Amino acid sequence: MMDRWTRARFQPCLPLGDNRSLITASEKHIALSRKAASEGAVLLKNTNDFLPLKKGQKIAVFGNAQIDYVKGGGGSGDVTTPYVRNIYEGLQLKQDKITVFQSLSLFYEDYVTKSYQNGGENGRLTEPKIPEKLLDEAAAFTDTAVITICRFSGENWDQHNDAENHYFDLEDEEKEMVRDVLAHFENVVVLLNVGAMIDTSWFADNDKVKAALMLWQGGLEGGLAAADMLVGDETPSGKLVDTCARLFADYPSSEGFHESDDYVKYTEDIFVGYRYFETVPNKKDAVVYPFGYGLSYTSFELSDISVGNNDKNIFVSVKVTNTGKCAGKEVVQIYSSAPIGKLTKPVKELRAFAKTPLLEAGESCVLSLTFAISDMASYDDIGAVEKSAYVMEKGAYTIHVGTSVRDTVCADYIYQLEENQVIQKLTAYCVPRTLDKRMLADGSYMTVEPSAEETKTFPCTYHNEYQPLAKGEKLDFFDVAEGKMTLDAFISHLTDAELMDILVGHASTGICNTGTMGGFNSKYCIPPIATADGPAGVRIYKGKGVTTTAFPVATALACTWNTVLLEEIGKAQALECKENNLQIFLAPALNIHRSPLCGRNFEYYSEDPLIAGKMAAAIVRGVQSQKVVATPKHFACNNKETNRFESDSVLSERALREIYLKGFEICLKEADPKMIMTSYNLINGVRTSESAELIMGILRGEWGYRGMLTTDWSNHAAHYLEVKAGNDIRMPARHTGQLQLPYSLGLITRDEIAACAKRVLEMTLWVE
Ligand code: BGC
Repeated sequence: MMDRWTRARFQPCLPLGDNRSLITASEKHIALSRKAASEGAVLLKNTNDFLPLKKGQKIAVFGNAQIDYVKGGGGSGDVTTPYVRNIYEGLQLKQDKITVFQSLSLFYEDYVTKSYQNGGENGRLTEPKIPEKLLDEAAAFTDTAVITICRFSGENWDQHNDAENHYFDLEDEEKEMVRDVLAHFENVVVLLNVGAMIDTSWFADNDKVKAALMLWQGGLEGGLAAADMLVGDETPSGKLVDTCARLFADYPSSEGFHESDDYVKYTEDIFVGYRYFETVPNKKDAVVYPFGYGLSYTSFELSDISVGNNDKNIFVSVKVTNTGKCAGKEVVQIYSSAPIGKLTKPVKELRAFAKTPLLEAGESCVLSLTFAISDMASYDDIGAVEKSAYVMEKGAYTIHVGTSVRDTVCADYIYQLEENQVIQKLTAYCVPRTLDKRMLADGSYMTVEPSAEETKTFPCTYHNEYQPLAKGEKLDFFDVAEGKMTLDAFISHLTDAELMDILVGHASTGICNTGTMGGFNSKYCIPPIATADGPAGVRIYKGKGVTTTAFPVATALACTWNTVLLEEIGKAQALECKENNLQIFLAPALNIHRSPLCGRNFEYYSEDPLIAGKMAAAIVRGVQSQKVVATPKHFACNNKETNRFESDSVLSERALREIYLKGFEICLKEADPKMIMTSYNLINGVRTSESAELIMGILRGEWGYRGMLTTDWSNHAAHYLEVKAGNDIRMPARHTGQLQLPYSLGLITRDEIAACAKRVLEMTLWVE
């Protein structure tokens, strides 16, 4: 048993691969990353099967992004990689199939190199003016151009889309490049290397643009994956997880996003993404590419749809046939529509999805999908049917089966409810005090009065009295690991000060750069459990000498709609953690894509909570299959970065539960993560890490979560209030100063401290 926590305690340099080979950034993991980059890319347009490029095709490639490829975003979601392969390098590898007009690409290479030398940063360079002569030579070389566009964003800052800053819209210099290219070439292919939605209308309606691929930010070999798809070595099978709207202003979140640095009012309520565009009258036309949409190099037909139910679940079965000429994968999506009743509702909501295996031309498969009837319930926070309860209103519930939110058929099936039903009676928590209005399905707003609900308190139910050690008696955490002593007995021998020490982070070990948990001193042999950032891969500071695999960003992974692949990626990320003696992976991140401007959208999955929850659950399963702790974050409503420590997310309880918490709920129930990270922001005036209603009421109470909670790093909350709320550890902290005075004043008790310490130690006992 003394070999417990060997890696945490001794930091051995022991590779985990066969024959002592390294797994970190291994060929296998990099190949997985490249595969995910093509599976997550979304083919938005492909007139007359223009892609894949035909053998012998000559192309001229425009735009910095062919060289200045953005592998992912910045901040804690960044990854230090051995290298990054750009699109131009990818195309160079395909010389047996296509020919690139070299002088143009070399012009960009030279420009990007010089820009970097002058302090320019990846993904943030201005498009250069293309010399007239070069443009003419390129046009003489070929009639086919590829336009590349990239965007970079990161933690702790948001984007702007106004007169001076264009994030969603093309920059003026980009517009000029596009104009020049369209004036000189008959066929144009667009490649978007971005982390969040940007303008797609400029090419959607332009006949000269024959094809467009949303590449997202595809990790360290994303540029090679782009080339794989352009020449047809891979067939794209990604589907959008966000709605591409015509104008930035079309997103209902746009109006108030930068209204204040102190708060964001989620006045669109539950009408986020496709729930808004599909429901609110006259908004369908604002959509360029709908949620769930994505083409392939082949075509598919859905047939033999059958739907049934038992008393708990709805079952859908559908046959998918590849009716085209090459192999490919299709995603089947199931939406439900609830009857119109007293509660406002979206027209359609995603309930289940499944991806086919690779189907050869002519091949078919049958997909079976299931979801709970209760998933179709709405949360009633106004008392229309039953206050503070999930309810299903009477009437007909219909099921829509298809390949995007728009492209569905209504199944020959109705789930009929003769009476309103209360599905789950809950308690009003985290209610809004300063939300003035919320949107209804017709696009109008109802007025919201400040809630009169009192804040609930949750008395500590754990009791643990201090029992001094007998003279000569030794306390050893290994005894707990070996089952020789209960955890409660162990805790009872720790002084209050020693317990407090477990509630703060400790110094990093080895190459860890975000601190450890648990190992406050060697006296009782509690090992230091090391943390490492994600989500795009294991983040180790540059200069530590270890590089890791950068996987495609979360948005790209979500666009695969492939939970099996994500589980595999989670497992690979956990192995890279393990090999580097890191036991806690600070990922996945699953906040909602509420606005295209959120600086961290790339780290998050989708505008839809089902996608977010299922993808996060898959990563958690993969990570924890290796006995590495996964940490879904940032719980919750961390959908803006500006003034993130103080920004108040103001929203209705229904939007909170149905949109912003739902993904976490799905992830917890499906994958049981051992840790969750609260967010920096406030929800309706209360910091999430101090919110007993959020943590004790919803997370631990309603959902039955038994794992531990960490704060986000160096938040602005009061540690003793976090302890009272059940947010178990403050990171990276390193000292208990913030706890001592409140403790001496009686504001927190030994029991409250011990309850948190117990959960930290339980997590420690779980890791190997
Ligand atoms: C981020 C977290 C991250 C933590 C540790 C914070 O700034 O918000 O996502 O896990 O830092 O690096």
